[in-house]
Amino acid sequence: MAKTVHDPVPGLVITVTGDDLDLHGNGLARWQNWVIVVPSLLPGEVAKVQLQQRKRSRWFARRTESLLPAVDERRPPCILANDCGGCTLQHLEDTSQERWKQRQLTTSLSKIGGIAQPPSPLEPTGDHGFGYRNRALIPLHRDGEGKLRLGYYRRGSHRIVNMNHCPVLDPRLDELIAPIKRDLDLSGWPADSDLHQGDGLRHLGLRLGVRTGDVLISLISSTEELVDLRSMAKRWMDRWPQVKGVTLNLQPKRSNRVLGESTKVLAGQAEIEEHFAGVTLMLGTTTFFQVNTPRAEAAVETLCTWLTECAGPSNVIDAYCGIGTIALPLASRGHRVLGLELHQASVDQARHNAKRNQLDRVQFKAGDVKTLLAEALPHHGALVVDPPRKGLDPDVVDQILHCPPQWLAYLSCDPATLSRDLKRLSTEGPYSLDVLQPFDFFPQTTHLECLALLRRQT
Ligand SMILES: C[S@@+](CC[C@H](N)C(=O)[O-])C[C@H]1O[C@@H](n2cnc3c(N)ncnc32)[C@H](O)[C@@H]1O
Repeated sequence: MAKTVHDPVPGLVITVTGDDLDLHGNGLARWQNWVIVVPSLLPGEVAKVQLQQRKRSRWFARRTESLLPAVDERRPPCILANDCGGCTLQHLEDTSQERWKQRQLTTSLSKIGGIAQPPSPLEPTGDHGFGYRNRALIPLHRDGEGKLRLGYYRRGSHRIVNMNHCPVLDPRLDELIAPIKRDLDLSGWPADSDLHQGDGLRHLGLRLGVRTGDVLISLISSTEELVDLRSMAKRWMDRWPQVKGVTLNLQPKRSNRVLGESTKVLAGQAEIEEHFAGVTLMLGTTTFFQVNTPRAEAAVETLCTWLTECAGPSNVIDAYCGIGTIALPLASRGHRVLGLELHQASVDQARHNAKRNQLDRVQFKAGDVKTLLAEALPHHGALVVDPPRKGLDPDVVDQILHCPPQWLAYLSCDPATLSRDLKRLSTEGPYSLDVLQPFDFFPQTTHLECLALLRRQT
């Protein structure tokens, strides 16, 4: 039975009002100087919750009764939203998600970055809050009765939430899920994303060229020993003309990395074509490409326009360049670009993409930005950085501060690390912010992309 004393102990039931959300979409409330963390509690919602576990100054709790819903709560459009770990904010109206993201960014900038300048408003998602993802990597598992389960993991676990539809996926990919799942089920192939039961299929990969309609299907498996694999691939290509290729990616390692090193073509092509910001890109099974094509394009267009208007044709470094998503549109607008990227396969793809677009004023080097940047900086008037979530390595910031280019564009997927890096660039360095533009690449989740455009003042 729930305890009724007012000491914060496991089992105590208390009444709280949601105050904010954490970065995983959990509700945060305050009670007697404690922070109470409650899954899916919304700001403004009043609920009875039961304390479960304490971690430092936080108590984790579960909702036992909702007393008053938040005004902007909604029934999640996906029937699996309460269980599936893929989306964390579906129960909150899109406009409130946008307001929360905007506030998060402003708070990060001021608290972590000491930056008072408010960011530009987020473009409203409007009708685009669903059906936007151009890619899916979905775990697979065959259960004790031999039935294939396909879906994302339940929040905080590795248990698959079985699905046939995913409404954040582009409908052109979503409609393939159920028939592919049926075929995989009937194939009898073993499947276990975690490899606890032995070798077999691990994930289904789907990728779409949003502008071309081309689809690439990939099976990620620990083994090639899957009977009649190629005939299944051929059947899919015959059934769906938009499928331009079916590949097998081998990932025999038990690691958090979904994709392995080696990819084989089972039928058709290894890559599909996409049109993006004025260039043509080829996308393969393991290629990094932003999941929201129109939003990513808006960010790249903003960056290209700003740099072209401010600097005219320049020598630009694109650090963390991937397959050239920013470097190639810049080169097509007359800039001379040097792309730096750690992942050799992405560099090969970027070179291939440059050739395909007949762009010869762009060059790519494979390696760590930390070791390549210092030598390149003195010969370039502009620098673009698009690092992973952890932001810029302190050594990289040191190198920029030592030889600061006139123009600096920073595309970030984490407001906290962006704020940290902007603080150093503007207080220890000579930069001021021209533009701070958030883009909602990931509606229904807490993630936010942000573009910061900086100019050297001295
Ligand atoms: C957020 S992605 C951006 C890719 C590209 N700009 C785009 O928009 O598609 C970050 C890229 O940085 C690369 N990367 C990560 N750490 C790196 C490092 N230390 N040096 C160079 N590249 C790195 C990753 O391989 C990845 O391609």
